[in-house]
Amino acid sequence: MMKKNLESLYKPVQYLGAKRRTLDTIVSECRRLYKKESYVVDLFSGSSLVSQALYLNKIPVISNDVMKFCSDMSACLLNVEKTNDSLSLLKEAIKGVSLCQIDSDFIEPFKDYIDNEERLIRAKDLNGLKDLYSQLPVISNEAIEPSEQVKYIREHFGKEAFNSVPLITNYYSGSYFGIKQSIRLDALRCYIEQNYIVNHDSWVYTALLTALYSTLSTIVHSAGKHFAQPIGITDFDKNKITNIRLFENRSYDVDALFIGFLKDIFAKTGNLKTLQPCISTCNNVQDECFAILLEDKNISVIYADPPYTAQQYSRFYHIPEVVRYYKYPQLQQHRGHITQGLYPDGKFKSDFCSKTKAKEAFRTVFNLVKKTQCSFVLSYSESKKDATGNERMVTRNDILSIAEEFIPNYKSKQLRFDFDYKQLNSSAKVVHDKEDKEFLIIFEKR
Ligand SMILES: C[S@@+](CC[C@H](N)C(=O)[O-])C[C@H]1O[C@@H](n2cnc3c(N)ncnc32)[C@H](O)[C@@H]1O
Repeated sequence: MMKKNLESLYKPVQYLGAKRRTLDTIVSECRRLYKKESYVVDLFSGSSLVSQALYLNKIPVISNDVMKFCSDMSACLLNVEKTNDSLSLLKEAIKGVSLCQIDSDFIEPFKDYIDNEERLIRAKDLNGLKDLYSQLPVISNEAIEPSEQVKYIREHFGKEAFNSVPLITNYYSGSYFGIKQSIRLDALRCYIEQNYIVNHDSWVYTALLTALYSTLSTIVHSAGKHFAQPIGITDFDKNKITNIRLFENRSYDVDALFIGFLKDIFAKTGNLKTLQPCISTCNNVQDECFAILLEDKNISVIYADPPYTAQQYSRFYHIPEVVRYYKYPQLQQHRGHITQGLYPDGKFKSDFCSKTKAKEAFRTVFNLVKKTQCSFVLSYSESKKDATGNERMVTRNDILSIAEEFIPNYKSKQLRFDFDYKQLNSSAKVVHDKEDKEFLIIFEKR
């Protein structure tokens, strides 16, 4: 890929396993195998970087991920359903950001906390902040009587939260985000929905959502900027790195960030045209409906970057997914208590992250390739220290023998990259003498 193009990519969120370093090779292999007037399918699009890079090379892409927020990001960055009015509607939407508000009755119970939080952040008072957060009337606070808002939520699990008791504030304030920040995030989420109801512009909708995901990803107070666990205040040393980060993260102005991201999206998406418009879908690649969706498309290459470890993406990215659907989630409990990560109940569990199910999951992918008879480009990462590191659910040999079963008429080659794979594990489990290797396995018809 040309350097200019790499700089043109919009990195919407900090995404584990996002393909940055191998991007050039992935794109050049896909370009080599791509046939005119066809599609390249990005089966597990995640942050959308690969889809974007292909698109910038004028290749029409079908981008897919089982997580809805991922398919929103692709839809936005691949200009899906962008109309002639979209850019002016987006400009209008930007103007309305500072005016959008949630009902003051919902803010009232948080008012004193917001003022105190601001003062304590300015004074860098860790003790005070810890104390303040311990009293906050959020759904996970089991030490206090439930507030009216929490009682309402408990009676409305699974129901939409638009223009009602603010979801983000009642679930994630005082942990992942600040209190004032959460109120603004709720206001923006409701504003985005309202804007869609008024204008019906799908591209603007995904652009606004993408900017919101970027905002969540920037301000979240967690290790690695994912949403697996908020960092609590356990130490009162102001020079401790997590405490320095706490003040940094809590000081972000949500509206300013959101508008900045929208302007960036505005500048980077441009008006690039491909022969046929790109498609963004949200499917489990194992579902029959996904195979049906691909059936009538002319596909020359499938690219796949599935998860290889037991770590579920739905756990690391549950918050953008909850914010997308904006329905009050029932929270998962462990030994009778809500988990620290505030995970929703019934998160999607990928078969690719299960030792017993991963091989069968790969069979469905190879079956898609067999049916389409297209070329197949597969990213693989290998941990040398399987016993102690991030154990892989399938080995390279497993993959090669499944390929032999489904596409014996294909030849394969492997490209190996020499750099560390970013581990998806908690720091305690990370193998420090990382020796992970990343590969690209390319299958093409003989
Ligand atoms: C390694 S990440 C992809 C990263 C992506 N290539 C990038 O550059 O950001 C794997 C993705 O697979 C998705 N996923 C996991 N199981 C899936 C399934 N059964 N069907 C579709 N997507 C799935 C996850 O949500 C995650 O976004």
